[in-house]
Formats: sequence, C-alpha cells, structure tokens
Amino acid sequence: MCGIVGYVGGQSALDVVVTGLKRLEYRGYDSAGVAVLSDGGIAAAKKAGKLVNLEKELVDRPLPGGSVGIGHTRWATHGGPTDANAHPHLDNAGRVAVVHNGIIENFAALREELVERGHTLLSETDTETVAHLLAEEFSSVGDLAEAMRLVCRRLDGAFTLVAVHADQPDVVVGARRNSPLVVGVGEGENFLASDVSAFIAHTRSAIELGQDQVVELTRDGVTVTDFDGGPADVRAYHVDWDASAAEKGGYASFMLKEIAEQPKAVADTLLGRIDAAGRLTLDELRIPATVLREADKVVVVACGTAFHAGLIAKYAIEHWTRIPCEVELASEFRYRDPILNRRTLVIAISQSGETMDTLMALRHAREQGAKVLAVCNTNGSTIPRESDAVLYTHAGPEVAVASTKAFLTQLVACYLLALYLGQVRGTQWGDEINAVVRDLARIGDDVERVLETMEPVRALARTLADKDTVLFLGRHVGHPVALEGALKLKELAYMHAEGFAAGELKHGPIALIEEGLPVVVVVPSPRGRSVLHDKIVSNIQEIRARGARTIVIAEEGDEAVVPYADHLVRIPATPTLLQPLVATVPLQVFACELATARGNEVDQPRNLAKSVTVE
Ligand code: AGP
Repeated sequence: MCGIVGYVGGQSALDVVVTGLKRLEYRGYDSAGVAVLSDGGIAAAKKAGKLVNLEKELVDRPLPGGSVGIGHTRWATHGGPTDANAHPHLDNAGRVAVVHNGIIENFAALREELVERGHTLLSETDTETVAHLLAEEFSSVGDLAEAMRLVCRRLDGAFTLVAVHADQPDVVVGARRNSPLVVGVGEGENFLASDVSAFIAHTRSAIELGQDQVVELTRDGVTVTDFDGGPADVRAYHVDWDASAAEKGGYASFMLKEIAEQPKAVADTLLGRIDAAGRLTLDELRIPATVLREADKVVVVACGTAFHAGLIAKYAIEHWTRIPCEVELASEFRYRDPILNRRTLVIAISQSGETMDTLMALRHAREQGAKVLAVCNTNGSTIPRESDAVLYTHAGPEVAVASTKAFLTQLVACYLLALYLGQVRGTQWGDEINAVVRDLARIGDDVERVLETMEPVRALARTLADKDTVLFLGRHVGHPVALEGALKLKELAYMHAEGFAAGELKHGPIALIEEGLPVVVVVPSPRGRSVLHDKIVSNIQEIRARGARTIVIAEEGDEAVVPYADHLVRIPATPTLLQPLVATVPLQVFACELATARGNEVDQPRNLAKSVTVE
C-alpha cells in the first residue's frame, strides 16, 4: 500500500504534494519522491527511507517552482527500498513521470518488450515499465489521458497510477483498478490522492473513482472516462472527517481499519501466485526445487502472533507434504541447541522483518547449514535480507501494534508454501492443489461476510468490560486460533486471557471454571473430522455444567452446539485447515471492542512496540 498525491492549481505543487505525502506516510515509508513540471520539463527528487530524507534532499538540492506535480511514499513490493526503486519513475527522455500503488502482474513480459524496443530500465520495479509505455503511447497520440487509457488496457493486476507529461504542463492524469484513488475538487485547483487525508486541508469536496477509470485533471476541470474512453459513473461526496480520522479512512483506529482491510490483504497476498488456469505459481521463491525435495524437516521460528501463524502452518505443512514440522518460539530456539542441518528448511515468519529474536534464530539456523525462507510483510527488511528466500505477504503497512491483517496474510502465505512444497515433492496431485487454491481464492469473500456480522460480537464484548478473565479453547487448528484470541485480549484489554487446547482442560485448567466465567470456544467444522467436533461439543458441555458463560464460534449449519452456547457466533463453512482465516476475525473484533469499552488506546497498547528489535 503506497501513498500517492497529484496536484494542479495555483499553489506551489511541491508544498501541496509534500504536505499531502506527510498525511499518507502511514501507507508506506520505504521511500518517497516528487516530480514537478517546470520550464518545459520535469524536475524530480526521490530518496529511500522516510519522507524526512526526501525533505532533506529538497533542502540540499531544491527543485524549481511549479504548480503541477505528483508525489509518492512507497511500501515496497517489487524491488527493495532504494533510491533507484523510489517513485516517481521517468522514461529515458525524462518527459513522463509516474507514481504507482499496487502490483502489475504482467510487468516482466512488458519489461522484456520494452528492452527489446531499446528502452533502458534503471530500477527493479514494475512501475517503471509504465513510464516507458506512457512515453511510447504519448508519442503516437499526443494526449496523456488517452495514452493512459491505452496503457491501462495492457496491464494485469491491481494499480493506481498518477502521471504527468512535460508536453502537457497543465494536466495530471490518474487511473485505478482495485487500488484506491480519490479526486479533491478545489477552486481553481484539483487534487488526486490515495485517500482524502492528503487534501482535506484544501478542500472537502471529493470524487470517488470507480473501477477501471481514468481521470484527467486541469486547474478548472475533472474529466473521468472508462479505459475505453467512454463515460464513467463517479460518486461525488463531501468529506466530513478531520485529518486524523481521514488517515484512518474514517475508522476510529488503525486497528479497526486494518481488521476491515483483511479481505483485500488476503486477496493481495494471493495476487500473482495463482495463474489463469488456477495453478499455484511461486516462481519468486529462490530456493531450488531440489533443495525443497531434499528437505527432511521444516522448522518454523517466530514470535507472538507470527508464532501462532506458524502453529497453524504446521498442520498444513504436515498434512500436504508429510514432512515433520516443528514450530519454535524464536526467543527459545537457539538456546535449546536444536538439531539442524542442510536438509532442514527453516521458515522465519515476521510482519516487520526486524524482530531481533527471529533474526537471531535464523542466523543460528544458517550457521548450522539450514536453508531459511522468510515469510514477511516488509519488503527489504533485515529478516528477508538475511534469508535464502522470501515469500512476501501483501497486507500493506500494519500500523496498529496488535497484528491482525498481517496474521491472516501470514496464514495465506504459509498455506501457499505448504501447497508448493507438496507440489514440488509430489505429495499432492495437481487437482488436489487446485482445489485448495480455489478455496483460498474464495476465502477473502468469507472474511468479508464475517466482518458484516460482527455487531453482536461488539455488543457482547462491551458487556464483558468489567470481567478480569476470559479463557479461549480450541482443537486442531482451532487451538492456535484460541491462543491468538487470548493474545489479542491480553495486549489490548490488559486483562488475563489464556488459550488452551480443549482436550487439555480436564488435565488442570478446568479448575479455573466458575460461575459466569466467559469462555470462548472455537469449534472445528462438523464436516471435517467429526470426532474433533464431537469432542469439543463435550468440552463445551463440561464447562457449561460448571457455570461457564460459553461464547461459541461455530460454522453456519452446525446445530449441535446450539444447546450449549450462551452466545453463538456464526462463521462461513470453510475447509478445516483454512478455518483460522475466518475464525480469528471475531476474536480480533471482540478484543478490540472490549479494550475500547475499557477506555484503552487500541493502536498503541501500553508497554508494547510494533517491532521488537531487542532480544
Ligand atoms: C501481535 O499482535 C504482537 N504485535 C506481537 O506478538 C508480534 O506478532 C510479534 O512481536 C512478532 O512481530 P513480527 O511479526 O513483526 O516479527
């Protein structure tokens, strides 16, 4: 997820764009850049790192003034966070500048064609191909909006593009497919941005662009068409948020925003990894298939929520590949003198890519000769850099300390990895893999459906604000979900919360059950291993008989749980191994709402940091 700003009007474009980028920096902070039309050409500056680095660059090497410009803060997807990969990207003649948010799936083929036609590309990004394509089309049609329409029709994937051309110095052109872009309509000036927070200091009149649309801005005009140049439906509206709320997309917190972003985060993590025929393609993995075939053990190392993702990954890896899989707390891993060798595949899961415990664990693993594969959400961070390969999640920046969308995308990445291992090792037939891939392709809709039914969960959470303990139970993949639900409640509501394997209850924890004690139970599908389901229904009866207040998470149609559920939360029926993708969401919402009811600040909980870079 990147931040984009475009401006055309009477003010200093540089001032408007840089100020706008500051409001968008939460969307990505790997690099930043601006381009301004001036004196018949394009003046551009871009720097790796946070926006402050660009601002320093602009002080050291000021750009000429101009009233038309674009800018970008990057959340790296293709190519590390370097100056060369920073946006804007220009064509070789320096006549076109473009910024981009999203993933262009067919950029490699487009890049090859451009090189064959004599273009020199200077970065590793997918975006740079668009600058060269726009230059080519502009040279034949002489109009940037038309050139944009022609280029967009050749792109696959998700993208928001904003561009300027030195030969049309009074125009900014944008386009969108599956990534956000909104117009700000001013008096004698107009704006384009990823979200309204970039321009509401200047205007609260906005136009939301629809799918597959191109917008041309001049100082006094906004023209929107579809990719074929035909008329387009758009929605004009008045922004009544304040700037801070606007950064959060109108949500009260980044955590609520990120919970709501999960369907898209899941879809984005699948993007480009399932081909048109529905087959799994993980070409980005730089570990040779021979190494994956030789692996005789998988070890997952991670912390916190990422560790819970690893616990779920274990079920998938062992089920689909028949390789033994151990899951280790990274902080414990290297001190227990683990048995590792060159046939061990270590998977390091980390949202930030900077968690010191996980980094030290992977370093230890590599010293022992193991191959390390990172599952990470932050392009170019330390953990992927020090791994043999990386499978990036595409959750976009996760600002709230309590991890939500990153967790779901870690699960998706681990499922893909497990399936890929099964495919490479032949333990899964193509049709079996395709069947799971089809289920995964649908799961974002299931998550959306869960999000639409969360009001009863929020109402229930508010009634429990005065409780000081909540227990969480689960079996099979529901056990790590219970652990994750407990962690969310701990770190957000600052209350005692504990997750158990439901079968473990009778070995001690059932002594905790007392009248009115809230117990959340994650129930596996009755369509899967029905014995698992029947046993957990018995567990629910056992705790209810002792006075527990049962909060049951069960799939639609599961009637066996109804008599024993004081509160029943329905989730869509999903394949057993994929259930965590939908069962976790009510627990995230529950924890967030209960914490809010207790007056807690959910984005920055006390004592915590988003990335724990100390051991
Ligand atoms: C989860 O809500 C916490 N923020 C924390 O447990 C986190 O998952 C853990 O610190 C690991 O962080 P990482 O994924 O960035 O490595």
